[in-house]
Amino acid sequence: MSDVVAQAELDLPDAESTKALGAALAGILRAGDLVILTGDLGAGKTTLTQGLGAALGVRGQVASPTFIVAREHPPLPREDGSRGPALVHVDAYRLGGLDELDALDLDSSLDESVTVVEWGRGLAEALTEDRLEIDLERPRGGDVSADEPEAGTRHATLRGVGARWAGVDLAALLAR
Ligand SMILES: Nc1ncnc2c1ncn2[C@@H]1O[C@H](COP(=O)(O)OP(=O)(O)O)[C@@H](O)[C@H]1O
Ligand SMILES: [Mg+2]
Repeated sequence: MSDVVAQAELDLPDAESTKALGAALAGILRAGDLVILTGDLGAGKTTLTQGLGAALGVRGQVASPTFIVAREHPPLPREDGSRGPALVHVDAYRLGGLDELDALDLDSSLDESVTVVEWGRGLAEALTEDRLEIDLERPRGGDVSADEPEAGTRHATLRGVGARWAGVDLAALLAR
């Protein structure tokens, strides 16, 4: 099992800050990277991916990958004509294991894509590849109101695992 080589955590007071975290990550993620989002239903995994997709500049609306295993968002051309990585957005509830990702017949290969997997709690430990793990937790009790059951701060913990993330200063990225 690979080691955690980079770590950071922060509070996300609202959905906009969760999107902003996704957008900040667009600045360091590159083709071939794997991001594992862990958190309960409604924790903000799709919301974070929306911020990432918007900042990467990919085609299509990032939405919950319900009823499909993975949705591909190809890169839109930038002003200078170049293209960034595609975004591959995966719902791991529908996936037996990460090895099945390679078997999906995607147009953009994973080498050309930033792959984001929305994972259920507790499964990511079994993975061995280089990856950025992001846990999103909703504090129990606290500021959860009956009128707005989805509202409230999330706590994000980021862990870079494997050689890819050695020397990456996640805390500095989030401080910007
Ligand atoms: N701090 C927050 N971070 C993320 N989402 C939040 C936050 N506060 C409220 N929300 C709301 O909670 C919901 C999260 O849903 P979603 O991103 O689909 O979760 P998941 O993909 O983890 O099931 C959205 O409706 C979002 O607007
Ligand atoms: Mg989701």
